[in-house]
Amino acid sequence: MRRYVAAIDQGTTSSRCIVFDRRGRVVGVAQREHEQLFPRPGWVEHDAETIWRNTESVIGEVLERNGLGADDIAAVGVTNQRETTVVWERATGKPIHHAIVWQDTRTDRLVTELGGEAGPTRYQDRTGLPLSTYFAGPKLRWILDHVPGAQERAEAGELCFGTIDSWVLRNLTGRHITDVTNASRTMLMDLRTLQWDSEICAEFRIPEAMLPEIRSSSEVYREITSGPLRGVPVAGILGDQQAATFGQACLIPGEAKNTYGTGNFMLLNTGTTPVFSKHGLLTTVCYRLGDQPAVYALEGSIAVTGSLVQWFRDNLGIIDSAEEIEELASSVADNGGAYIVPAFSGLFAPRWRPDARGVIAGLTRFVNKAHLARAVLESTAFQTLEVVDAMRADAESQRLDLELTTLKVDGGMTGNDLLMQFQSDILDVPVVRPVVTETTALGAAYAAGLAVGYWSGTDDIRANWAADTTWQPSMSAEDREEHIAAWNKAVERTYNWVD
Ligand SMILES: Nc1ncnc2c1ncn2[C@@H]1O[C@H](COP(=O)(O)OP(=O)(O)OP(=O)(O)O)[C@@H](O)[C@H]1O
Ligand SMILES: [Mg+2]
Repeated sequence: MRRYVAAIDQGTTSSRCIVFDRRGRVVGVAQREHEQLFPRPGWVEHDAETIWRNTESVIGEVLERNGLGADDIAAVGVTNQRETTVVWERATGKPIHHAIVWQDTRTDRLVTELGGEAGPTRYQDRTGLPLSTYFAGPKLRWILDHVPGAQERAEAGELCFGTIDSWVLRNLTGRHITDVTNASRTMLMDLRTLQWDSEICAEFRIPEAMLPEIRSSSEVYREITSGPLRGVPVAGILGDQQAATFGQACLIPGEAKNTYGTGNFMLLNTGTTPVFSKHGLLTTVCYRLGDQPAVYALEGSIAVTGSLVQWFRDNLGIIDSAEEIEELASSVADNGGAYIVPAFSGLFAPRWRPDARGVIAGLTRFVNKAHLARAVLESTAFQTLEVVDAMRADAESQRLDLELTTLKVDGGMTGNDLLMQFQSDILDVPVVRPVVTETTALGAAYAAGLAVGYWSGTDDIRANWAADTTWQPSMSAEDREEHIAAWNKAVERTYNWVD
């Protein structure tokens, strides 16, 4: 039996390749960042060809650095930034436009048009999603509208659409496929049948010929056709947040995790029937193993958390690295009355306000950069509280068996002790971080390893999960309420900015 499983994690800011052993521990990592392109306010693009080159190079690097080859790797799993949209020529594999990234808001008018008289919930009962600039379908419509000749070429079968998983799979294996979790973020898939919804595709004027085949999250798709992993089967695909949920062993209804990366994403496993939120959460496919029934999740997506730290670093230049924010924030006792609401792409869950834009509220002559550093970190915790409250409200109104006794966390920002303590304080629940924090890649590795028998079942995943650090709440109820009231006032000041 081959010794390891590899995962490709193609994220919003970087591409990684991580090799895992049977205990789910990291054997080796290689990572490469790519450029974020901001051609206009509200627009965010990636160069898909650069992303593929980076992916190829991190695969090579991790193998070389650890003295590994195709013979050591039992299977490869792929996980990816979700919703980011690529259109390429079927014959050449050349993209016809930059990838439009999930944070991009250029489709704001288009989504209002698509909602028509029914409004933003027009497709919610079929897709689990409100109409929003966030999802792939409207981004694809935009490309077909704005690249000369694209609609005709798509109708003639000359173009392929894919989210980043499909783009990576095309380049690894030549196949044009996606998995149910990624397909569930397009607004074009029926959540119950797990097939493209012909009616929605027609209403979006999207030719079905350009869509990938929808497959399970864990099955052997095809062997890699070239490069150092030639011959190794690709056997798992999961959107990054679903992968992290799987990697965190949230395998039964009621189990949830929160990932702190570019944005924050909390997913709650709700079992094999989709639950539809009345409080601003999304319904999404969590994973599907082989031909077993799909497992669904409720999701609270927050657009801007870690990327606010990057903005603080790159756009304001107040710190030189993301880690530095903790020391600066720790140099003062509190936020000095300042609150930052990073509604850079409008507000996502649970408020869904495309008209919102960011504010810094509560400024006085007293406030300095250390207070702002605190406000940057605290905004992540407040936004998470809103999502947790929405999950509690849905659980109560729909009689789901969920009591949030601890919050499992992962992602880059969980290295920040000050933030994790404040998160626990604001939620008034313990926060726990596992030993392996690369849960996104780990989840994709599990999906692939399960498909080829490297792991024998999901019990192995549960057995591998181990807690590392736990933060206990210690804030008084009075302080908590004061903070939350001020935060809510600040959020109201973001509304009605974009007409
Ligand atoms: N110590 C820290 N304190 C606060 N924020 C941090 C810290 N370290 C990293 N971050 C933030 O966390 C984010 C990176 O987290 P992570 O590596 O999980 O994201 P990612 O997986 O690369 O994101 P993506 O998948 O979207 O590319 C960055 O936005 C960075 O600003
Ligand atoms: Mg990531």
